[in-house]
Amino acid sequence: MQKFQNNFKIFIAFSFLILFVGLTACKQDQQNRIITLEVPERPIEQENVLQLRCDPIPTVRVAFIGLGMRGNEAVRRFMYLEGVEVTAICDINVNFIEKTQKLLAENGKPAALEFTGKEDWKKVCELENVDLIYNCTPWYLHTTIAIYAMEQGKHVAIEVPAATTIEECWQLVNTAEKTRKHCMMLENCCYDFFEMATLNMAQQGVFGEIVHVEGAYIHDLRELNFNPPGDYGYQGMWRLDYNEKFKANLYPTHGLGPVCQILNIHRGDKMNYLTSMSTKQFGITEYAKNRFGEDSDYAQRTYNKGDMNTTLIQTEKGKTILIQHDVTSPRPYNRLHTVSGTKGFAAKYPIQGIALEPNAHHFLSQEEMQKLLAEYEHPIVKEVGQKAKEVGGHGGMDFIMDYRLIYCLRNGLPLDQDVYDAAEWSSLVELTEISVNNNSAPVQVPDFTRGDWNKLNKLVFMEHMKEQNQQ
Ligand SMILES: NC(=O)c1ccc[n+]([C@@H]2O[C@H](COP(=O)([O-])OP(=O)(O)OC[C@H]3O[C@@H](n4cnc5c(N)ncnc54)[C@H](O)[C@@H]3O)[C@@H](O)[C@H]2O)c1
Repeated sequence: MQKFQNNFKIFIAFSFLILFVGLTACKQDQQNRIITLEVPERPIEQENVLQLRCDPIPTVRVAFIGLGMRGNEAVRRFMYLEGVEVTAICDINVNFIEKTQKLLAENGKPAALEFTGKEDWKKVCELENVDLIYNCTPWYLHTTIAIYAMEQGKHVAIEVPAATTIEECWQLVNTAEKTRKHCMMLENCCYDFFEMATLNMAQQGVFGEIVHVEGAYIHDLRELNFNPPGDYGYQGMWRLDYNEKFKANLYPTHGLGPVCQILNIHRGDKMNYLTSMSTKQFGITEYAKNRFGEDSDYAQRTYNKGDMNTTLIQTEKGKTILIQHDVTSPRPYNRLHTVSGTKGFAAKYPIQGIALEPNAHHFLSQEEMQKLLAEYEHPIVKEVGQKAKEVGGHGGMDFIMDYRLIYCLRNGLPLDQDVYDAAEWSSLVELTEISVNNNSAPVQVPDFTRGDWNKLNKLVFMEHMKEQNQQ
């Protein structure tokens, strides 16, 4: 009997050993399967730019580069801001220069210095009477201009995505750290009304521990992508070209920005790795055939961009993020904006809804939801939301973004979005591409803060937090 017991103990101990070795090997194997990218060391003389404060600028002198659909709209919104001067404008299309000068004149503003050469953005960045470069050019110029601008001592605001490669993301981070200049990506969706209210609710614990979030950019851009030559649509069809070159998520930041803010990414949590899958491309070719004919050049071109790209990201704290991108299918606009926590749930698309414990099986009634949204209206929206609705720009969110950017610069405050946000959110362009090209293999998301992701504990909209904490 004694011998049997001893043998049994040995058998159990041996089984545990095998299990342990097996699990360790499995863990190791899982780690090995992740595609990792090199994180360049931070140069010794550089420090992070978390919560970067710069000297207050009482009147912010702004130069706009790129005056197409987005840039011209931005100048229009700036007519409603205090403490700004539009000192220079730059575009290779002289019609757009004239249009913007007219806009300035109609608003009683002095004419801006104008620049129309292909490389003139350099001269604009070198101007003495400019504090902020507001960059609304096509994607391939975003990082190049931003880096040169910071090197010339200018703050920069860049349209989305700020970069399209990991290399560019690092260039932005390194230049911002080296020059100690603000580099903000203009992620306007972070300032939409429902997004700001749900951020406020999340920060105040209404949803409990946030477990899973979703965001997307689903927007049928087929007609705009094939705009004929002229002043309408993407100039020179620059956006269509990206549908040839890339397969995965070309435009991740509208969906990702607001949910990363809710998860406190690089403010206590970080994105660890992602896996991404794309469908094949069907929609854009079919559209081109129908519109231009089967034998047309547009129908014959090879578009690599799969219609739908779906990406899953896991964070250090074990949360998940789902991000989608589809700009070639005929379906209603959708950014998802789904927030799921241990105490409740919110979703913005296709229909806004909030569900809370103890009755989270069902959405709140419209009346109850509106009451809750009013109760948790973000302090910034309380301050400027009405004016933003009047000024417009995607329903007002664009104006709230500009207002906050200028407010923080005028008051020497850290900006709501920093260069790490710009890099993290934009990095998905290349990271999803790598995953898709490797049968959806997991790809590590670089830590652009280089170890400092846990130094802050939540997103703070400077000078508005006091009020928020008192609620
Ligand atoms: N945040 C949003 O909601 C939103 C919406 C639309 C577009 N965007 C972004 O805005 C940016 C511009 O998009 P758009 O729709 O206005 O495109 P667009 O083609 O209408 O505008 C781009 C402008 O840049 C100009 N340009 C090109 N090369 C130049 C150069 N070398 N120097 C100066 N100007 C140059 C073009 O002539 C054009 O007027 C893109 O990054 C896009 O992703 C953001």
